[in-house]
Amino acid sequence: MRFDRLARRSVLAVLLCTLAVPAMAQSESPRRIGIVGAGNIGGTLGRLWLKAGYEVFFSSRHPEELKALIEELGPKARAGTPAEAIAFGNAVLIAVPYKAYPELGKENAAALKGKVVIDAGNAVKTRDGAIYDEVEKDGIGAVSAKYLAGARIVRAFNAANYKIFLKNAGRPDPRMAVPIAGDDPKALETARTLVTDAGFDPVVVGELDAAKTFAMGSPGFGHELSAPELRAKLGVAP
Ligand SMILES: NC(=O)c1ccc[n+]([C@@H]2O[C@H](COP(=O)([O-])OP(=O)(O)OC[C@H]3O[C@@H](n4cnc5c(N)ncnc54)[C@H](OP(=O)(O)O)[C@@H]3O)[C@@H](O)[C@H]2O)c1
Repeated sequence: MRFDRLARRSVLAVLLCTLAVPAMAQSESPRRIGIVGAGNIGGTLGRLWLKAGYEVFFSSRHPEELKALIEELGPKARAGTPAEAIAFGNAVLIAVPYKAYPELGKENAAALKGKVVIDAGNAVKTRDGAIYDEVEKDGIGAVSAKYLAGARIVRAFNAANYKIFLKNAGRPDPRMAVPIAGDDPKALETARTLVTDAGFDPVVVGELDAAKTFAMGSPGFGHELSAPELRAKLGVAP
């Protein structure tokens, strides 16, 4: 009798473990991507992830304008508002002009907390105004962390033009390297997977602050190097 009870408990424990593991794995899985900003970089990366089998939610402040894009891209592509894209993705790509970050962060503060954010934005003096000076002073990683407070940010896809990404995605080895930087190890893992699945080799340059080494105008910006070449250029250990 006692043995039966113990045996039943063991079976139950094993069953619970079996059920719990995939559920945890799923919560870290990046298979659903929300994209805020379906322009040059958001549109390009979204297409690459769709090709890799991801579900992609594109967004716009005028989502009706994305109808044709979604019809062209098929059933794994959806469209809606930035808030809906953030809610949809277990990772979110931010691909909007950098001056939009303060408002975007404020309007979506609760939803961004704890979210893995792939931060593709760059600060451009002529386009972004005052926030460009803030980036010059504090570094782009710190400024992203300030305005997307609580998000698990990884800077990625910042260091080249979208046409370069399009041209090099999935090229024969050696693949094009994409430098990434972030503070959260699990978010970095997710970003590595996303970079790989888009057709590139991720190179972890360091924590979020190290994103300045591949910001616009820095030595890590504007290249099509392989991972070993990029590591050598930036002094990153293999
Ligand atoms: N272009 C590149 O090659 C490249 C490469 C690396 C990094 N980046 C960086 O990536 C970001 C996007 O560049 P892009 O060239 O893709 O720009 P883009 O083609 O002009 O697209 C920007 C998108 O952002 C959306 N947007 C603008 N203001 C917004 C706001 N306040 N809230 C939410 N969405 C907003 C726009 O959508 P709606 O107007 O429809 O809402 C638009 O689809 C920039 O920070 C840029 O510096 C660009």
